[in-house]
Amino acid sequence: MELSPREHGPISIRIVRPRDARTLQNELMENRAWLRPWEATSPDGPTSFDMRLGVKRLLQQYRDGLGVPFVMEHAGEVAGQLNVWGIARGSLASATIGYWVSKRFAGRNITPTAVAMATDVCFFELGLHRMEICIRPENAASLRVVEKLGFRYEGLRRRFIHIDGDWRDHYAFALVREEVPEGVLRRWVNGAAPQDAAVIPPADRISG
Ligand SMILES: CC(C)(COP(=O)(O)OP(=O)(O)OC[C@H]1O[C@@H](n2cnc3c(N)ncnc32)[C@H](O)[C@@H]1OP(=O)(O)O)[C@@H](O)C(=O)NCCC(=O)NCCS
Repeated sequence: MELSPREHGPISIRIVRPRDARTLQNELMENRAWLRPWEATSPDGPTSFDMRLGVKRLLQQYRDGLGVPFVMEHAGEVAGQLNVWGIARGSLASATIGYWVSKRFAGRNITPTAVAMATDVCFFELGLHRMEICIRPENAASLRVVEKLGFRYEGLRRRFIHIDGDWRDHYAFALVREEVPEGVLRRWVNGAAPQDAAVIPPADRISG
């Protein structure tokens, strides 16, 4: 399916292309220490890492309607990846977002802007109803992303995703379409994203 391009100022998202594989592989290698604590790993042990194959798999999942693999760009330069995965259709109509940017692009609002645009694509072009983001309690930078956009805290999931070599607890955040009739990007840009939606209740707090 052809999706309309999305951009806001210097920040844009587009579907990954096979020729992005080399750039992405280089960025991932150069940002090992930055990304490793937050990177999904296989519970079956180390796997070989080939981005060409990785992009191929992502594009196959896209064709199968299971995911939407975006790259995030800043002024036309690839800054990182934003992957919509686990698309469930039918009565659930839900998906999950994962993301990373290279360290040199951090702190420029690239990720929140891209998450807002990708969620709007999913809600208003692909007809999904719910978008989820799961974050390790220790990941302060990523928690800022959901706070900024007013994603709603939904709960603590114990030993939920295999990250950096072990099963890690995650906080889950979500939005449903009726919460954002004007779209996630417009709501945020207009200063209308609720400030406290992502607040973690004391009982669920795990110190990072
Ligand atoms: C989490 C991440 C995607 C945020 O992306 P981003 O585009 O930098 O997002 P923002 O610009 O909104 O910055 C979010 C917060 O990061 C922190 N931050 C900013 N610059 C930073 C830097 N150079 N180094 C570390 N943290 C920084 C700030 O606390 C910022 O919040 P603020 O804008 O209120 O000051 C990015 O930090 C990253 O790729 N981290 C490694 C991978 C990862 O954690 N992925 C997410 C797994 S759930």
